[in-house]
Amino acid sequence: MNAAPLTYRVTRNEKARTPAERDAILASPGFGLHFTDHMVAITWDKAQGWHDAEVRAYGPLSLDPAASVLHYGQEIFEGIKAYRHADGSIWTFRPDANGKRLQRSAARLALPQLPVNEFVESLRQLVAIDGDWVPSAPETSLYFRPFMIATEAFLGVRAAQQAGYYVIASPAGAYFAKGVSPVAIWLSEDYARAGKGGTGAAKCGGNYAASLLPQQEAQAQGCSQVLFLDPVEGKYLEELGGMNVFLVYKDGRIVTPELSGSILEGITRDSIIQIARDRGHTVEERRISIDEWKQGVASGDIVEVFACGTAAVITPIGQLKGKGFEVGDLAAPAGEVTMGIRKELTDIQYGRLPDRHGWLVKLRD
Ligand code: PLP
Ligand code: COI
Repeated sequence: MNAAPLTYRVTRNEKARTPAERDAILASPGFGLHFTDHMVAITWDKAQGWHDAEVRAYGPLSLDPAASVLHYGQEIFEGIKAYRHADGSIWTFRPDANGKRLQRSAARLALPQLPVNEFVESLRQLVAIDGDWVPSAPETSLYFRPFMIATEAFLGVRAAQQAGYYVIASPAGAYFAKGVSPVAIWLSEDYARAGKGGTGAAKCGGNYAASLLPQQEAQAQGCSQVLFLDPVEGKYLEELGGMNVFLVYKDGRIVTPELSGSILEGITRDSIIQIARDRGHTVEERRISIDEWKQGVASGDIVEVFACGTAAVITPIGQLKGKGFEVGDLAAPAGEVTMGIRKELTDIQYGRLPDRHGWLVKLRD
């Protein structure tokens, strides 16, 4: 449907935080703890399509208790950041890729598709009013959380005929409390995150709900993330609860699980593949068995392992633990290949290196 671009009604938050209150939050934002003064909301129904776009005060949603999102979990989301460059301007990274992924998630969850240009415009609208919330300290950003829910009040099990799309934003520092130092991860052998033909490739809340119990298990074992294996044979690496994973070989090869249909097609993953190739690495997207990881680390063939995602950026993995085994050495410093790619990616995002792949989109001067 080639609808006319949406026009926004903008209502300012009467209770917006003062500059001093905002600065206190930006001085130590953490991750996902604080939210800006405004949000975007767009309504959809079957008859009218997308309509009633607005920017309004950040605050609770009003939902009918029968709304299908509350019963059948019809929900999808995205994660994308705004970066402040040295000249004060505000940019985002590959928003078309996130917009397209939101559309793929919508298709899988039988939700309506928001046009990609409207996805990008929704970020622009929020930054137009809340731009002062984009922090400027190194490694900080404004994390957008666009999401869509089925709002129709109907208990029959079918695709909802009413939905809402929203964008909230949260100033962000490092995702892991210790910043860029190696983390330990836990191999989940009892639980899978996704099933064959399921929703693993979609960014939907249900996948994360399914990861929370194994995530608790990981934390009880002193690990910060869970590693999931393929749901069919329980043998091949898939991804972490909220990140993709890469292994670096001694000979410079970089290997990552192929897109199996049950893992999320990470935009950071895709960007790393490109940057690694630019840097002369051979990159393989293929099946990787858990034994290949264990044996490779033991023999010294695998020299670095890292996780990646919008929230986590690139985080070195120092140790893999599971029932009755541990591989890797947390005391080892973060690897050179990992940190080299990380620096190049963040230098592009923060405008310190030329944007040679055309990945950056300016949101505000
Ligand atoms: N895998 C999962 C399950 C995720 O939640 C994320 C985060 O969004 C990723 C991978 C990485 O995706 P991206 O790099 O697009 O943020
Ligand atoms: C992201 O990186 O954007 C995610 O959605 C992952 C989540 C663990 C915060």
